[in-house]
Amino acid sequence: MDLGLRGAGVLVTGASRGIGRAIAETFAEEGADLAICARSRPPLEETAEQLRERGATVVARDLDVADSAALRAFVDTAAAELGGLDVVVSNVSAGSSADWEQALRTDVLPFTTLVEQAREHLAASRRGGAVVLISSTSAVHVTAPSGPKPYGAVKAALNHHAAALARTLAPRGVRVNTVSPGPIEFEGGGWARRRDTDPDYYAGVRSRIPYGRLGRPEEVARAVVFLASPAASFVTGADLVVDGGFLDRV
Ligand SMILES: NC(=O)c1ccc[n+]([C@@H]2O[C@H](COP(=O)([O-])OP(=O)(O)OC[C@H]3O[C@@H](n4cnc5c(N)ncnc54)[C@H](OP(=O)(O)O)[C@@H]3O)[C@@H](O)[C@H]2O)c1
Repeated sequence: MDLGLRGAGVLVTGASRGIGRAIAETFAEEGADLAICARSRPPLEETAEQLRERGATVVARDLDVADSAALRAFVDTAAAELGGLDVVVSNVSAGSSADWEQALRTDVLPFTTLVEQAREHLAASRRGGAVVLISSTSAVHVTAPSGPKPYGAVKAALNHHAAALARTLAPRGVRVNTVSPGPIEFEGGGWARRRDTDPDYYAGVRSRIPYGRLGRPEEVARAVVFLASPAASFVTGADLVVDGGFLDRV
């Protein structure tokens, strides 16, 4: 199936490792051009170089998404340098931080800023613009690894906002969807750390995944790229769970 992404302009936040990097790589494999950001420059540059080797035009900026002026400028630079914007993927999270203000500044406000700043670019996309929010299964359950922490609560708020945006942006031809990964493991990521430092906790979570293992970044990335592509032209307001059966619900 041709996903129709050749030459598309795609912005991914937090793309220097893990899920965000796998998303950028999968878009590049589909022939898209990329705008990527992260705070630390060396891994970002290394990712950008690797994407260029796959044939993509790449704009890379080291910035903190909590800096809304820098994020807005990044969106406009991306649109100018890539010849428009067809897709925006909001991937950054404050993760398991216990700081509620940080979670709001890093997860919630950047998503609203991104959509606001990219909206006109996306509406002008001849492929039909698409927004993908990277959420989490923690948005819809409260036991471990969720719990009474900011992470699941802000992801739940984002799910709500994304679903509402899907309805209001549809008349402009912009689709908004959510991808909710369950626990995803990669070297340098949180679950690889827990595997090494707290093997009992890691094994307890793994035992609740019917597939018998944690997910891989590229398994999330393929779902994101499909939802963002013209191949999903009538899918909006969806929440695609990628969790090996972790969530036990209808
Ligand atoms: N891993 C999982 O098990 C899992 C499960 C469910 C959902 N998710 C969701 O998937 C997304 C990615 O998770 P991940 O595990 O791949 O994350 P990660 O390993 O923490 O990587 C995050 C990426 O974002 C960048 N980043 C972090 N904070 C930033 C900030 N304030 N401004 C700009 N860039 C920033 C990081 O680079 P710098 O540090 O250099 O900035 C890195 O490139 C998140 O939304 C997460 O909630 C992950």
